[in-house]
Amino acid sequence: MTKQDLLYEGKAKRIYRTEEADTLWVEYKDEATAFNGEKKDTLLGKAKLNNEISSHLFMRLAEQGIPSHFIRRLSDTEQLVKQVTIIPLEVVVRNVVAGSMAKRLGIQEGTALPRPIVEFYYKDDALGDPLITEDHIGLLEAASQDEVETLKEMALAVNEQLSELFDGINVRLIDFKLEFGRLKEGTILLADEISPDTCRLWDKDTNQRLDKDLFRRNIGNLQEGYQEILNRLITT
Ligand code: C5P
Repeated sequence: MTKQDLLYEGKAKRIYRTEEADTLWVEYKDEATAFNGEKKDTLLGKAKLNNEISSHLFMRLAEQGIPSHFIRRLSDTEQLVKQVTIIPLEVVVRNVVAGSMAKRLGIQEGTALPRPIVEFYYKDDALGDPLITEDHIGLLEAASQDEVETLKEMALAVNEQLSELFDGINVRLIDFKLEFGRLKEGTILLADEISPDTCRLWDKDTNQRLDKDLFRRNIGNLQEGYQEILNRLITT
């Protein structure tokens, strides 16, 4: 397999074609961004950490019957994935109030939710990825009603598996964001990445942040937090 032309460059990844139809080459970058790109930095080693953590989590989810675009890890910073058409929604699952939910609803960060909450955000940089309702998803033709049901079911299944997995390494899964894509025949797969860039992860004993809030809020060394997550994951 070889890397061919660049198909897309995002904030944290570059995606290339390969000579194989429907197979893409993903290269993680050492770039960190927050607040819709307003805060930016290069953080050496972040690409390797996210590539390894995301590969590990996609493999663990596959073992539990949750399909994703992940095929295999190629190198420290690269992986092969199945080509999908990304559904323009960010699907957020929350177990504990934090981040934008704490701000929006005026509930104290750290408040446990009685049951997980699923939210949809419309992926549109120019609009700042707004929170939207299921009716808005229909209006925007981002996904069908059946697909929305599938996204919710898959997101909650991922939450169950990941919550248990992180619990086993003494980490609370506070919230996370997923993206999904469609194969040509319509099957929906988990896509993008699952890493400390896209999850909030707090140490269960100390509430120490082990995720991108370290960078967003300038509260510690991002690479140290991500390395701690990787170390705990690979020793279980
Ligand atoms: O900012 P907010 O509280 O809405 O984020 C909820 C979760 O979704 C967090 O884990 C955050 O890391 C993730 N997220 C993301 N990409 C975005 C927005 C949120 O990974 N564009």
